[in-house]
Amino acid sequence: MLGVCYYPEHWPESWWRDDARRMKDLGLTYVRIGEFAWSRFEPDPGRHDFDWFDRALDVLGGAGLKVVACTPTATPPKWLVDKYPDILPVDPHTGTVRGFGSRRHYDFSSETYLRESNRITLALAERYGKHDAVAGWQTDNEISCHKTTLSISESAKLAFRRWCKDRYGDIATLNEAWGNIFWSMEYRSFDEIDCPFLAVTETSPAHRMAFFRFSSDQVARFHQAQVDILRAHSPGRFITHNFIPMNETGVDNYKLAESLDFASYDNYPLGRTDLWMADRPASDFQRYMRTGHPDFGTFFFDQTRSLAGGKFWIMEQQPGPVNWAGHNPRPEPGMVRLWTLEAFAHGAEVVSYFRWRQAPFAQEQMHAGLLRPDCTEAEAFPQVQQVVRELAALDLAPAPVAKARVAIIADQEAQWLGEIERQGNSYNHTKVTLAWYMAARALGLDVDFIPPHGDPSGYDLILAPGLAMPTAAQVKRLADSGATLVFAPRCGAKKPDVTMPEGLPPGELRQLLPIRVVNVETTRPDCPDTLVWGNKTYESRTWREQLEVGDGAEVLARFDNGDAALVRKDKALYLASIVGEDLLTDLFESLCGERGIATVRVPPDMRLRRRGNIMFAFNYANEAQPAPAPAGAAFVLGGPMVGPRDVSVWKV
Ligand code: GAL
Repeated sequence: MLGVCYYPEHWPESWWRDDARRMKDLGLTYVRIGEFAWSRFEPDPGRHDFDWFDRALDVLGGAGLKVVACTPTATPPKWLVDKYPDILPVDPHTGTVRGFGSRRHYDFSSETYLRESNRITLALAERYGKHDAVAGWQTDNEISCHKTTLSISESAKLAFRRWCKDRYGDIATLNEAWGNIFWSMEYRSFDEIDCPFLAVTETSPAHRMAFFRFSSDQVARFHQAQVDILRAHSPGRFITHNFIPMNETGVDNYKLAESLDFASYDNYPLGRTDLWMADRPASDFQRYMRTGHPDFGTFFFDQTRSLAGGKFWIMEQQPGPVNWAGHNPRPEPGMVRLWTLEAFAHGAEVVSYFRWRQAPFAQEQMHAGLLRPDCTEAEAFPQVQQVVRELAALDLAPAPVAKARVAIIADQEAQWLGEIERQGNSYNHTKVTLAWYMAARALGLDVDFIPPHGDPSGYDLILAPGLAMPTAAQVKRLADSGATLVFAPRCGAKKPDVTMPEGLPPGELRQLLPIRVVNVETTRPDCPDTLVWGNKTYESRTWREQLEVGDGAEVLARFDNGDAALVRKDKALYLASIVGEDLLTDLFESLCGERGIATVRVPPDMRLRRRGNIMFAFNYANEAQPAPAPAGAAFVLGGPMVGPRDVSVWKV
């Protein structure tokens, strides 16, 4: 099913009816509204005005659309900020207050804001919780977007002290755990602890890890309060949130999603590609400029699917140029259709476009919609019409996404560790994870994500591009799963307070592999070393470990100086270096072969995804390429040659 994001408050009321009719005629089912409308819901302190929203719901519901109503807490109005200045966050890097005038200007630790957020949420939940047109709720909007997780306000500092006291009990324990004897950092009481920013040089890694965990917990606490209110007053309606990937926000999205019915993701493939590939030469970038990189959307689809019960929506889908990336190109013809079908192939239940009509005013006036500001159809419009026809023909409902045979561990603590203890400027945990994902996808593999505390059973191959501080129980569960396990460098590197494990890294992983990391070095990405696996030579870049290998382990690959680069014992493998996709692809292919998992080397810029008994091939390339379909395959869309930026679908 399809949907759209709509802002009745942006348009003359006389337009609403026609908008609703056109949405319905287009074949849309859902319309998301209200997420930034606090200044209209409550124009003055305590004076609510819901009449206009009642009428909007009547018009939309009357047209047969289902409404996703939102809490408007991403945009506290001016009067609220002026009345309670303590709701504003303080930037950790400059110490300045982040003020009014855009959005997300609130502090997750402000008790005042929590109260106000709960108050407006309750008012909406009471009024609309049982409204016929309301199918469900979205909490807030892209929580923590615009780097708003961290704040070093007075409220944050006091809450952090309480959080530390709850976690460590007494100050001596905290001093010991953090290693505060180093540089005379010892505290006499919890009241002496500040936020770990604005010091002369690097602050204690344990202190920062604690602050990152605390900040993530504060976000989850704030969000949970809204969920509880909506649950109590809106029976039978779903609750979701449109997530920003956790590597960007520093929030543990698994925790945030715990009590949601499903997670949602906002898919802006061109914007993300522009940001992610900003440091890459034009020779790498240009072919993706107007298509997006074929792995950047699905990397997050597969993660979002794993957050809450295996279901997900795309709450916002890019329809044309956006306004916020470094450069904002126009999608190639057909890409909006391709991205939409790709989300469904990865299990999305709904794809909702952002936005119905381009606004001719304010910050996003250069951001496309399905309609232009003059109400004429923008270029995505006929593509959505095409998707509607194709979805009817595909009949995806009886073909849910099955559990994959390959899983990747998504570890927020590894992300935090990579930020806290950089060690080398070129190490980036998310880029490592993405490279492992890309290698798996280049083999046509479907991939699930699981968190470190998740259930690894039922997978044949589990890839751990990061698992910074696994517990003994987690390692045991991984071993008991019976899966082949591949660990990246830095797995098992630390204990929870960012100290080195006894007996050296990889700490708890030594239950599985008799190795010790005796040296770590980081190098420039343009100064690679080499390693040899089998009869092939590969590059090792940016991060390299020297392993001491004990009895019972087999050295599969060696660096140029003879040191072990890839070690295996039974089903567990450990890579001592950051390597390119070539080695990862060869390695995963060989391990899949051992486990009887079918792989296929997909043509460049083509990706496969299976949903139930339906196989999709997405061709991001500029030229037609053959689909890796069996001879005589029954195509339900396209055919054996997949056109440029086109899709073929066949039954398996
Ligand atoms: C999203 C956000 C929307 C809108 C959109 C523009 O991140 O949720 O409100 O700003 O980006 O692309």
